[in-house]
Amino acid sequence: MSLTLSDTAAAELVTGSVYPSTARIDAFLAENPQLPTPVLVVDLDIVRERYLRLRRALPSAEVFYAVKANPDAAVVGLLAGLGSNFDVASLGEIDLCLGLGIAPDRLSYGNTVKKEADVAAAYARGVRIFAVDSAVELAKIVRQAPGSTVTVRLASDGDGADWPLSRKFGASTDEVAEQLLAAAEAGLDLGVSFHVGSQQRDPRAWEAPLCAVAALSDLLAARGHRLSAVNLGGGLPSTHFHSTGPVEVYGVAIDAALEAYLGTDHGLRTMVEPGRYLVGDAGLIRSEVVLSTPKQTDGGRRWVYLDIGMFNGLVETQEEAIRYRMRCPGTRGPLEPAVVAGPTCDSLDVLYEREPYPLPVDLQVGGHVDLLSTGAYTTTYSSVWFNGFEPLQAHYLPVSD
Ligand SMILES: Cc1ncc(COP(=O)(O)O)c(C=O)c1O
Repeated sequence: MSLTLSDTAAAELVTGSVYPSTARIDAFLAENPQLPTPVLVVDLDIVRERYLRLRRALPSAEVFYAVKANPDAAVVGLLAGLGSNFDVASLGEIDLCLGLGIAPDRLSYGNTVKKEADVAAAYARGVRIFAVDSAVELAKIVRQAPGSTVTVRLASDGDGADWPLSRKFGASTDEVAEQLLAAAEAGLDLGVSFHVGSQQRDPRAWEAPLCAVAALSDLLAARGHRLSAVNLGGGLPSTHFHSTGPVEVYGVAIDAALEAYLGTDHGLRTMVEPGRYLVGDAGLIRSEVVLSTPKQTDGGRRWVYLDIGMFNGLVETQEEAIRYRMRCPGTRGPLEPAVVAGPTCDSLDVLYEREPYPLPVDLQVGGHVDLLSTGAYTTTYSSVWFNGFEPLQAHYLPVSD
């Protein structure tokens, strides 16, 4: 069966004309044809552009870059220079930031699962914002981080997100209320956080949690306490196969929800924690086709095996959640669906099977497949040496002025 190129993503696959521009990355790859694949190349001009654009789209919020998305010093250092703050998940990320000269008051320890010793160590280093979603975790903050701001995390259903962060995190509104009241009694400064799920396709996803934040703020006020911060979490999307609106649309929707539920003069410190949005589109992974073959045991379907897969950078294809855009330089098409898999001896290492991916029929073994918008959640997800494959290598193209 041949596909017709009805959707933009598929058309881009053949024309190579993608948004955002990969021009600098393409030039780098052309100048370095011997670079072993798979390789990630990140254009820091795009990271900078994204940061500045987000500041314009959502000026009321302080940006806390989620370091976990891509903790390379080139990215963190660039964002620090632009004025970003940082959401950190561990002592390792805290020390990374401090090592780059970032002051501890620009860090928020956003992981709701922390060893008590790590809370104490973070506090000793000067960190003063901590997230929790349980009374047990709150007790650690009360004991080890007096006077800090605690952001109690509301649960989210993750609806509308390609990578929902539901189930594991967050508490019900009632539990959040209890924890806030306990935190107030302990003399902590009070905040509420939530995360609407990563790669959130619905700009209105912030409405329901902000409605809950307003109710919590009222409840605290009725008890003589004041909510001082709201953390809007991450969720702003990269440009993947399924289209999403521009960040400006998210900015308008979030601002409207803030105003609708909390009023124009809410006076809350407003934080946003983008990861994927800031670095995803800045990266491209070049991979090589190791094998391409019809599989009789699978009804004759074509299987394309790349030198990158689930274990060396593409964990987010798990359950086909994140569907990257792909481009196959030097091919002409037409496109036919193929099952796409990684190189390891593990049957989990299949990227797109339930929904096979449209790839050019003339894609050959040894040819390249470029995975677009892969600057986030790839390098650090790459395993150390599974099956003897090296961790994903990365190059960072410095900002151009
Ligand atoms: C607490 C927290 N904040 C922010 C982020 C970043 O989310 P995103 O990459 O969707 O912007 C994450 C991602 O896991 C997170 O756990």
